[in-house]
Amino acid sequence: MCGIVGVTGNENAVEMLMNGLRRLEYRGYDSAGIYVNDQNGKDYLVKEKGRVADLAKAIGEDVHGSTGIAHTRWATHGQPSVANAHPQVSADGRFYLVHNGVIENYIELRDKYLQDVTFKSETDTEVVVQLIDYFVKHDNLTTLEAFRKVLYLVGDSSYGFLLMDREEPDTLFVAKNKSPLLVGVGNGFNVVCSDAIAMLNYTHDFIEMQDGEIMILTPEKVDIEDEEGHHITRLPFHVSMDASEADKGTYPHYMLKEIDDQPTVMRKLAQTYFNDDGQVTIDDELLADLQSADRLYIVAAGTSYHAGLVGERLFERLAAVPTEAHVSSEFAYNSPILSKHPFFIFLSQSGETADSREVLTEVNAKGYHSLTITNVQNSTLSREATYTMLLNAGPEIAVASTKAYTAQIAVEAIIAKALGEATQQVAAADFDLRHQLGLVANGIQALVDQKERFEAVAKDNFVDQRDAFYIGRGIDYAVSLEASLKLKEITYIHSEGVAAGELKHGPIALIESGTPVIGIITQERTASLTRSNLAETAARGSHIMTIVTKSLAKAHDDIILEDVDEMLTPLLTIIPAQLISYYTSLLKGLDVDKPRNLAKSVTVQ
Ligand code: AGP
Repeated sequence: MCGIVGVTGNENAVEMLMNGLRRLEYRGYDSAGIYVNDQNGKDYLVKEKGRVADLAKAIGEDVHGSTGIAHTRWATHGQPSVANAHPQVSADGRFYLVHNGVIENYIELRDKYLQDVTFKSETDTEVVVQLIDYFVKHDNLTTLEAFRKVLYLVGDSSYGFLLMDREEPDTLFVAKNKSPLLVGVGNGFNVVCSDAIAMLNYTHDFIEMQDGEIMILTPEKVDIEDEEGHHITRLPFHVSMDASEADKGTYPHYMLKEIDDQPTVMRKLAQTYFNDDGQVTIDDELLADLQSADRLYIVAAGTSYHAGLVGERLFERLAAVPTEAHVSSEFAYNSPILSKHPFFIFLSQSGETADSREVLTEVNAKGYHSLTITNVQNSTLSREATYTMLLNAGPEIAVASTKAYTAQIAVEAIIAKALGEATQQVAAADFDLRHQLGLVANGIQALVDQKERFEAVAKDNFVDQRDAFYIGRGIDYAVSLEASLKLKEITYIHSEGVAAGELKHGPIALIESGTPVIGIITQERTASLTRSNLAETAARGSHIMTIVTKSLAKAHDDIILEDVDEMLTPLLTIIPAQLISYYTSLLKGLDVDKPRNLAKSVTVQ
């Protein structure tokens, strides 16, 4: 999940590469490096352990160039260190390589070809750059031929490679398989990046790369070759997003900005997917395909999977179609017996999650149809699915996903309503979703306007805690899983979302004096049951809190939410959990946007 950038043909290469790395730091932030060449025999390699800001401090005034590559790392092979940081360099200092992905057979290759090479790092990437050097010398190959030979040898490993050769100082050799990589076309220069937002300050025109392709970039041109070396022409696509959208502006953290973005995101979705007569509108072909399905399979990871659990209920209640949500890394290797006419829905903020892509590859191989709901235009899961629906939530940079979760649920509700109406389901016809999304937007606004209050809740109830539990029933249980994930990933507090009725079958053993237990209560049918389960934990010394919709609230309840339809309450109940996690992380002095051991967009399995 590293971030890689490259530039050829621009005197400000160092500045462009460093700005690109800052924008990609959400992809990995345990070490970083840069290599630039000034085309007059001078070149510079600088690597540092830690953040991009640490690398920036290490870059001397004299470092300059017009062609270069850079990398911010999420360690897969080898501890975070200067030696393991990228670019990795060949023994004689001729070749420089940055890499995003995992080379599965690097040990076999090293043992077969590179017994005499002294390695400076523990990385799989160094094996690749040493191999390129080996074949250039040993087999008298050109750099491109050696690069292609090594790509053949690493097989179906995941990689985004950017290679530079000191003897061809204005050329970037680029290759990808499974990892996201785009080429940006500039005026007299060209760039490469893991994500378009890295280079939106310099170009809005990008060429997508397909797996197995090699691109050779010089300042004037972009050559595309397929696996066999045949030349390919491909037109750039335009990314309309403004670069500033990827900035956090006056916000101290991306997470807080993205939490605050949610009311606008809800209103925008209501505009995008409803016509002027208030009719829900989705792609006709997609709708026809959904209608012919006898079962929907939602496949996703992490927060997106949690949004899928809510989607399961929305599709069953509004469209009366059997629906099951699956964790992609599990589905990839233990898929259930499928129905006769399955349809697959992939949820992915980044559109690049490797586990989900593994399933989609299998789904395509079996000829099934699929829809990807994503926040990234032209992402891999979008390109490879039959249909795409965009969240239009604006860039989500913080590792902890917030607005993508609520946007995914809203889009699932939109599709479920459209499908339900198309199949004459009364529940769907009676469900005024556009109006409800307006209520949701107001309800979220009312909550994000109470930041000080949630900061106090975090301070008084969470900062000093080792454990915390969110409990609920039905759709509230689905939210409690996401609420506890937010707490886990940015505060490092052990937290679990527990089906309230399950507590007494085991988890209640973890309750000690003062352990926070937060009850989510938005479903009339189960409200009193969840309250009794809360009381059972209080009897064992827990500190209970409640998140309740107004119509179900009692005098002693803690966090009261505006009333919205019971199917959409996850869009409100998650907000206090997001803000409590944010402030608990902040008050614990942790890095809210870049929590330890995590990265955004998990492109390795
Ligand atoms: C959520 O806060 C995490 N960043 C993580 O669980 C994330 O949801 C998961 O990796 C899936 O990512 P995707 O939506 O980009 O596929």
